[in-house]
Amino acid sequence: MIVLGIETSCDETAAAVVTGDRRILSDRVLSQLDDHRPFGGVVPEIAARAHLEYLDGLIAEAMEEAGVAFADLDGVAATGGPGLIGGVIVGVMTAKAIATVHDLPLLAVNHLEGHALTARLTDDVPFPFLLLLVSGGHCQLLAVEGVGKYTRLGTTVDDALGEAFDKVAKMLDLGYPGGPLVERAARGGDPARFALPRPMKGRPGCHFSFSGLKTAVKHTIAALPSGGLAATNVADICASFQTAAGEALMDRTRNAIGEFRARYPDADNIVIAGGVAANSTLRALLGELAEREGMRLTAPPQPLCTDNGAMIAWAGIERLRLGLTNPLDFRPRPRWPLDPDAPPAAFAGVKA
Ligand code: KG4
Ligand code: ZN
Repeated sequence: MIVLGIETSCDETAAAVVTGDRRILSDRVLSQLDDHRPFGGVVPEIAARAHLEYLDGLIAEAMEEAGVAFADLDGVAATGGPGLIGGVIVGVMTAKAIATVHDLPLLAVNHLEGHALTARLTDDVPFPFLLLLVSGGHCQLLAVEGVGKYTRLGTTVDDALGEAFDKVAKMLDLGYPGGPLVERAARGGDPARFALPRPMKGRPGCHFSFSGLKTAVKHTIAALPSGGLAATNVADICASFQTAAGEALMDRTRNAIGEFRARYPDADNIVIAGGVAANSTLRALLGELAEREGMRLTAPPQPLCTDNGAMIAWAGIERLRLGLTNPLDFRPRPRWPLDPDAPPAAFAGVKA
C-alpha cells in the first residue's frame, strides 16, 4: 500500500509518500517562516496563498524522491481539519483533484489523528495507548482506543502549551516560532531563579491551564530592573518557565495514567505527540514519569513531532485499511475534535 499525504493546516506546506509496511519514501516540509516572520505569528491569508503557491511543486518533489508515479498510489490523504481553513481548503482541493484524475480513494485526515497515530508509524505502538498531545493549537490527554476512537481525559481550559511557549518567546523578543527558541535559550539557565506557578498542580482530573503561567512570566519580565533582558535573565526566565510548564504537564499526565489504567489495566503504552513533543526537557521529564509509573514511552523523532506530511499519509493508510475513505464532496472542517462526545471543560474557552 502506498499513500501520498498532504498537510496544509498551518504554516508548513508538506507532502510525503509512505508505505503500508511503515516506510517513509519521502517527507518534504516547506516552512513558511520567512513569509510570516515580519508579523510575529502566522497570518492565515498569507498562509493560504503560500500553500497554493508551493504545494504542487512540493508534491512533485515528494513523488520524485519516492520514485513513484500517481498510478502507483493506493490513495491520497490530506488534512481535512482542524486548522486555518484557507490552507486546509488548498490541501483538500489538491487531494480531490489528484483523486479524481487518477481514480484514487480520498482520505480526509483529522490533523490531530495524524499526530496521534505517528507512534504507530515509527514504533508500531498497539491500541489502546495513552496520548499526550501538545501542539500550537491543542493540549490534550486522550485514550487512543483505535482509528477514529478517542476518549478525551483532559484538555486545556485556556492556552495550548505551544501557544504559551510562543507567547513567552514573543515577550522576550526571541522570535517565532517560540518553542525551539525558548528551549535553546533555557539551556544553562537557572530553573529555580524565578518562582512561577504550576497551574492545576495537585488538583484532581487531567485538565490543563497555561494562561496564569504566561501572565506570571509577563510580570516577572516587567519586574526586572531596566536593561533586564540581558542574556542571563532571558536564560533564567526560559528555564524557569520550561520547568514550571513541565511540572504542570507531568502532574496532569500522572492523573491521566491513573484514569487510563482504570479503563485498561493491561495497557502500558504512553505516547507524546505534536510540535511541543520535540522539546527535549519535556521528553526527558515524561520519560522519568513513565518509568516511575511502569509505562513504556514512545516519543517519535523530532521532525515527525512538528507538522509533516508523513503523519497524514500514515493516518490515511490506517483509514484506508479500514475502508474509511471520504466522498469527493468532503467539506474541510475548521474545528474537528477527536472526541466529539467529551463534555466541555469548565471555564474553557473556544479552543478546548
Ligand atoms: O504540531 P505543530 O507543528 O503545529 C500545530 O499543529 O500546532 O506545533 C507547533 C508548536 C508551536 O507552538 C511551537 O512553538 C511548538 O510546537 N514547538 C516547541 C518546540 N518545537 C516546536 N515547543 C517547545 N519546544 C520545542 N522544541
Ligand atoms: Zn500539528
